Amino acid sequence: MTSQQPTSRRRLLAAGGAGIGAAALSACADGSYQGSALTSSPDPSSGEQAPSRSGTELTALADVPVGGTTVTTGPDGKPIAVSQPRQGEVVAFSAVCTHMGCTVRADDDQLRCPCHGSVFEAGSGDVVTGPAKQPLGTVPVHVEGGKVVTGEG
Ligand code: FES
Repeated sequence: MTSQQPTSRRRLLAAGGAGIGAAALSACADGSYQGSALTSSPDPSSGEQAPSRSGTELTALADVPVGGTTVTTGPDGKPIAVSQPRQGEVVAFSAVCTHMGCTVRADDDQLRCPCHGSVFEAGSGDVVTGPAKQPLGTVPVHVEGGKVVTGEG
């Protein structure tokens, strides 16, 4: 009788582990949370700078709340988070989570990943809470005629 107890425990642990894996996969399998960077480089976990075409308008500065962020689409079709930490000062980051590539969402002065809960600082792209370990990739932007435009000013 007692010899079966370790086997049963092992089976339970294996089944539990499979369930956790399935839950993680299903969270990422929902297409509504996927970033397009899952199928292209750079690797979202690399923290590399997101590619962008210089001189492309991303959004109107007026559409980016002071102390907040607007997530928009970059010239390459990938999501970009444009933040305005202080009036007239803009910074932008790839909105592709560096953990597994889901698209982060703006939440006041933070960017939150809906897939596994990573949180990034909107003004710097730095990781506040994992599981992501790398910051969001920086996208150079500047303000031109009231518009947020890609590239150095
Ligand atoms: S993809 Fe896992 S926390 Fe963002």
